[in-house]
Amino acid sequence: MSIKNFFLLGTLMLSLNACYYDNQEDLFQYVQAVECNTVTANYTADLVPILVQHCFRCHRNGRTDGNVNLEGYNNVKTYADDGSLLGTTDHQAGFPIMPTSGIKIPACEIEVMRVWINEGALNN
Ligand code: HEC
Repeated sequence: MSIKNFFLLGTLMLSLNACYYDNQEDLFQYVQAVECNTVTANYTADLVPILVQHCFRCHRNGRTDGNVNLEGYNNVKTYADDGSLLGTTDHQAGFPIMPTSGIKIPACEIEVMRVWINEGALNN
């Protein structure tokens, strides 16, 4: 499911379930449990769109904040292997928080990143 449809579904379910869930966060987790497909994740199809949307503004060819470029597999692989790709994005202790706005990217997208790394951070 595309990210756009994912959010449309989330909005739909939010209105349908408004009586049962007081709190958006509870519902959001519920929707993710149902809809977040992280059985497997590929570099090109799954990870790159996340980086493009949330990270390329500051980390791409031509702009490398913190001297970090996340454009191109070999660049991304470096940060996948040293733990900082997930560490920064999942706001783990010891890493600067990314994106720098301080707002975590959607949990489902962090899970996609985690699965891709756990599967060996392959160029697939
Ligand atoms: C608005 C600009 C901006 C965005 C968007 C952004 N970053 Fe950063 N990033 C920075 C800056 C600035 C630094 C250097 C910060 C520092 O060293 O404290 C940095 C540093 C990093 C580092 C190096 C961390 C380290 O241990 O030194 C990684 C990895 C990183 N960013 C990943 C990401 C990822 C992944 C995303 C998207 C989820 C992202 N960034 C989005 C600005 C950004």
